[in-house]
Order: sequence, then C-alpha cells, then structure tokens
Amino acid sequence: MADRPRIAHVGIAVPDLDAALSFYRDVLGLEPHPTEEADGAAIVSLTFGESEVELLAPLAPDTPIGRFLARRGPGIHHICYRVPDLDAALAACRNAGYRLIDEVPRSGAGGRRIAFVHPKATAGILLELTE
Ligand code: CO
Repeated sequence: MADRPRIAHVGIAVPDLDAALSFYRDVLGLEPHPTEEADGAAIVSLTFGESEVELLAPLAPDTPIGRFLARRGPGIHHICYRVPDLDAALAACRNAGYRLIDEVPRSGAGGRRIAFVHPKATAGILLELTE
C-alpha cells in the first residue's frame, strides 16, 4: 500500500566511496546512481527493491558525516522512513514530544523534502523522514 510508511533508505557513513562501492558493484552487481552532494557529504545510492542504501562520504572533516566517522567510525548513520505526509508526521512528532533536528522540512539529497528526528527520541538511531 502506497500510503503506509516504508523504509526509503539506510544511510551508511564510509571514509571512501570507491572502496565501499566495490562490494555493491563487484559482489552484488548493482549499478550505483550518480554521486550527489548534500550536507557536506558525497552520496551514492544503490537500489534494493523499493528501498535504497545511501553511502555517505564526508567532503571535509568538519561536516556531520566527518564528525560521525571521527567519533564512531564507519557504520549505519541513519535510517530514512518514507511517510505519506511529512508535515503531518512532523506535527505528530511535536505533539508527542519528540525532539526534532529539523522543525520544518528542508531539501535533502535529490531535492527531496526531508526532516531529521533527534536520535534521543528514537532508540539511538538518527531518523530521517521523507515522503
Ligand atoms: Co538520508
């Protein structure tokens, strides 16, 4: 059902896109999407059915992904859920007292409308919402 939340993508922080891509390209035989840039990171997406994996490499150390790598090393950085109505989902988060990183939707990779929910609210996982 198109109007139910789905997993849009899983964002994985990596120090080196090419090194990370070899598994997806050479082992899984996937064709990477063209590289995009958002929030100080170079991003390559790979399609897994209706979901994607996003490999995120920092363009500089002083960026969200650069700081994540320095603090925690490579690994899962965030999960993005696709919701039917992003504004309604943010309003519901606010009403329920969840802390938001983005109070209003902003433009993310690919020009999608996105907003991040603080990991304190969601079992330590940084959540991105999109529609
Ligand atoms: Co993302």
